[in-house]
Parts: sequence; structure tokens; C-alpha cells
Amino acid sequence: MSSSSLIVATALLLALLLEGSNAQLSATFYSSTCPNVSSIVNGIVQQALQSDVRIGASLIRLHFHDCFVNGCDGSILLDDSSSIQSEKNAAPNVNSTRGFDVVDNIKTSLESSCPGVVSCADILAIAAEASVSLAGGPTWSVLLGRRDSTTANQAGANTSIPSPSEGLSNITSKFSAVGLDTTDLVALSGAHTFGRAQCRLFINRLYNFSGTGSPDPTIESSYLATLQQTCPQNGSGTTLANLDRTTADTFDNNYFSNLQNNQGLLQSDQELFSTTGSATISIVNSFSSNQTTFFQSFAQSMINMGNISPLTGSNGEIRSDCKKVNGS
Ligand code: HEM
Ligand SMILES: *[C@@H]1O[C@H](CO)[C@@H](O)[C@H](O)[C@H]1NC(C)=O
Ligand SMILES: *[C@@H]1O[C@H](CO)[C@@H](O)[C@H](O)[C@H]1NC(C)=O
Ligand SMILES: *[C@@H]1O[C@H](CO)[C@@H](O)[C@H](O)[C@H]1NC(C)=O
Ligand SMILES: *[C@@H]1O[C@H](CO)[C@@H](O)[C@H](O)[C@H]1NC(C)=O
Ligand SMILES: *[C@@H]1O[C@H](CO)[C@@H](O)[C@H](O)[C@H]1NC(C)=O
Ligand SMILES: *[C@@H]1O[C@H](CO)[C@@H](O)[C@H](O)[C@H]1NC(C)=O
Ligand SMILES: *[C@@H]1O[C@H](CO)[C@@H](O)[C@H](O)[C@H]1NC(C)=O
Repeated sequence: MSSSSLIVATALLLALLLEGSNAQLSATFYSSTCPNVSSIVNGIVQQALQSDVRIGASLIRLHFHDCFVNGCDGSILLDDSSSIQSEKNAAPNVNSTRGFDVVDNIKTSLESSCPGVVSCADILAIAAEASVSLAGGPTWSVLLGRRDSTTANQAGANTSIPSPSEGLSNITSKFSAVGLDTTDLVALSGAHTFGRAQCRLFINRLYNFSGTGSPDPTIESSYLATLQQTCPQNGSGTTLANLDRTTADTFDNNYFSNLQNNQGLLQSDQELFSTTGSATISIVNSFSSNQTTFFQSFAQSMINMGNISPLTGSNGEIRSDCKKVNGS
């Protein structure tokens, strides 16, 4: 071997070793092993939207709840079993997260096109981007190469996923714990520009806010009256309300103008604008005044969220059924 080819060979080996120890996700991860992965996912999400306008919102939320617990590793998709205490049954997810059947349809289709190649964790990341772009939002180049966990962390899901009533400072801490900052928090909260929430998750704001016996004073009065009609005091807690009162199924920046009008649905939404002195206020104003700024920040923050502690290299596995660890 000549000395120059020895140098090249050494450099290649070094690059491989570095990749193994500090693996990065990559936009081209499946370009030779499953070149059509994005169009396959896109097609199935598009089909699902025909019968359920809400499904895109449900799918992006799965990616969020996956990434906040042990990183973006598909752990939220595992069913209960003798060895798994599922995240599906954790407090923030039970009777709330949805879209698992669509993820299974995507997996089945990918297993037929590119068997054993695409992880369930990556399916969630790709489906999130497809859902946003199909609803009129931004597109971005999804980074890929995540592998799937062989465990779930129900206790972690109970404690790491933000609750709508725990207050802005606690929620900021939960984002910070996974490396996301205040801009990420405000931008990603903008995902509440589509989808629904159950009355039980905000009804305290309508009748008895923080035990005061009165509604949350930050809710604009006509919106309060509308929400009280949708969610009567002794009604069903599972009745749904639109997270974005203006354009329920479109991905746009109206979420932020709603907050400026005191028409945010969840306590955690309105607090981004109504917490005196908070750094979040000027970010809300900036996203409200310029949708392009919001879209660019949202895409960047989705990439940031998607980078939370992925399993890569030879860690984890590529599940053949997203609901089960291989061989179980
Ligand atoms: C900032 C802290 C957050 C809190 C406290 C929060 C809380 C909630 C709650 C309580 C619901 C309603 C669930 C139900 O009714 O069953 C919801 C729905 C939703 N969340 Fe969040 N969320 C947060 C951040 C995010 C992020 C970061 C994303 C995605 C990037 C997201 C995307 C969604 C979507 C799209 C829905 C509607 C889902 C559907 O219609 O099925 N949320 N969220
Ligand atoms: C990729 O998928 C699209 C949509 O499902 C299909 O039209 C196209 O033929 C596929 N291309 C390849 C190379 O499989
Ligand atoms: C979830 O919903 C089902 C059906 O409405 C109900 O029986 C069950 O108690 C609920 N589970 C929890 C933990 O709220
Ligand atoms: C998670 O929270 C649910 C509901 O509060 C509870 O039933 C369950 O035991 C908790 N799981 C763990 C592992 O702490
Ligand atoms: C906020 O977090 C602190 C510390 O974990 C906890 O004690 C408190 O109960 C949380 N606040 C709410 C409203 O959940
Ligand atoms: C409001 O909630 C507090 C604390 O949960 C409770 O003690 C009080 O009875 C409630 N008030 C009304 C009017 O329901
Ligand atoms: C709701 O139920 C409580 C107790 O079950 C009752 O005292 C109250 O009057 C009811 N409120 C309405 C608006 O029906
Ligand atoms: C909106 O923001 C974009 C990107 O930050 C910028 O290029 C554009 O000039 C802004 N538009 C207005 C009207 O300020």
C-alpha cells in the first residue's frame, strides 16, 4: 500500500470510529437503504387525514412525548407486557395520545418496502414533519438514523412530560432538562395551532381556577363564555375543544395572536404571554407579527427536539413491530 493510500485508509477508519462514538443523525441516512421512506410516510399520513382531520396533530404530539422520555427512541410506542410498563399508560398519555394505529400502518408499509431498515423512532420524526407540512406549515429536512429502545419508562413519562397546569417556570425547567431553551418552548408550543384538547385538561380555568372559585382572570370574556358552553360544569371531561379557536386544523401563527387576545386554551399556552416579565412575551409577539419567523424557528426547534439523546450505531434495535421489542 502506498503511503498516500495508507493515509486515506487511516482517515476513513478514524471517521468511522468517530461516527461510532459520537453518532449524528443525518438527512440522508436512508438514501440507499430506503430512498422512498418520506413519500411512503407522507402518503399514509395524507390518507389518514381523509377520515380524521386531527390525525396530524396527534402524530406530532407522539414524537414530542417520545422525545421527552429517554430521548427520541420510540419508547412511547411499546405496549404493556410482562417486561414493559408502558408509557402509553402514563398519566400524560393515557386516554390522550392517539395515532398509534397510523404508526402501525406506516411500519407495515415500510417493512414491505425496506424490511428491517427504518426505526419506529424515525417514523415518528418523519410523520411529524409530514403532518405539519400537510396542514400548511413549514417543511424541513428531517434528521434520521435513530434506533428503537428495548425498554419503556413509565415513571419518566409521568414526571418529564409537562402538564398544562404546572406553571411556566416548571415547564421551562422540563424543557431545559432535555436541552431545549425558551425560544424552543415558545416555538414548539406553537404546535397547538392545530389539534384538540379535552375539557378535563382546562376546565379548572373555566370555573375554579387555582381553587379561587372563579375563572382564570386571563381568559377573554367571550371566549370564556364559549368554552363554558363547550365544557359545562358537570359535563363530560372528554369533550373536545379546538386548541386554536381561529383556524382549528391549519398550521399557521394564529396561535400566537390568540395568546395576545387572551384566547389561549390551556393555562400553559396563555402563560407564555400573560406571565408578567417573562422572556416568552417578546417571542410570542415576534411569532405573531411574522409567520415566516415562526415557521423558521419551529423547524429549527423540531430538529433540536428530534436530536434529544437518540440511540444510534449499534445501540437499541430496529423494531419490526413498533408495539413490541423484537423477539418478545
Ligand atoms: C409546552 C408544554 C406543553 C403542554 C403542557 C402540552 C399539553 C397538551 C395537552 C394537555 C393537550 C391536550 C391533550 C388531550 O386533550 O388529551 C395537548 C395537545 C396537543 N399538543 Fe401539547 N403540550 C405542550 C407542548 C407541545 C409540544 C412541544 C408539541 C409538539 C411540538 C405539542 C403538540 C400538541 C398537539 C399537536 C396537540 C393536539 C393533539 C391531538 O389533537 O390529538 N404540544 N398538549
Ligand atoms: C415512491 O413512492 C411513491 C409514492 O408512494 C411512488 O409513487 C413511487 O413510485 C415510489 N418510488 C420508488 C422508487 O419506489
Ligand atoms: C380511560 O378511559 C376509559 C374509557 O373511558 C376509562 O374506563 C378509564 O378509567 C380511563 N383511564 C384513566 C386512567 O383515566
Ligand atoms: C404513572 O402515573 C399513573 C397515573 O397517575 C400511575 O397510575 C402509575 O403508577 C405511575 N407509574 C409509575 C411507574 O410511577
Ligand atoms: C413545580 O415543581 C416543583 C418542584 O418539582 C413542585 O414541587 C411543584 O409542585 C410544581 N408545581 C406545580 C404547580 O405542579
Ligand atoms: C374550588 O377548588 C377548591 C380547591 O380545589 C375547593 O376547595 C373549592 O371547594 C372549589 N370551589 C368551588 C366553588 O367549587
Ligand atoms: C354540579 O354538580 C354539583 C354536585 O354534584 C352540584 O352541586 C352543582 O349544582 C352542579 N352544577 C351544575 C352547574 O349543574
Ligand atoms: C419576517 O421574518 C423574515 C425571517 O426572519 C424576514 O426575512 C422578513 O423580512 C420578515 N418580514 C417582515 C414583514 O418583517
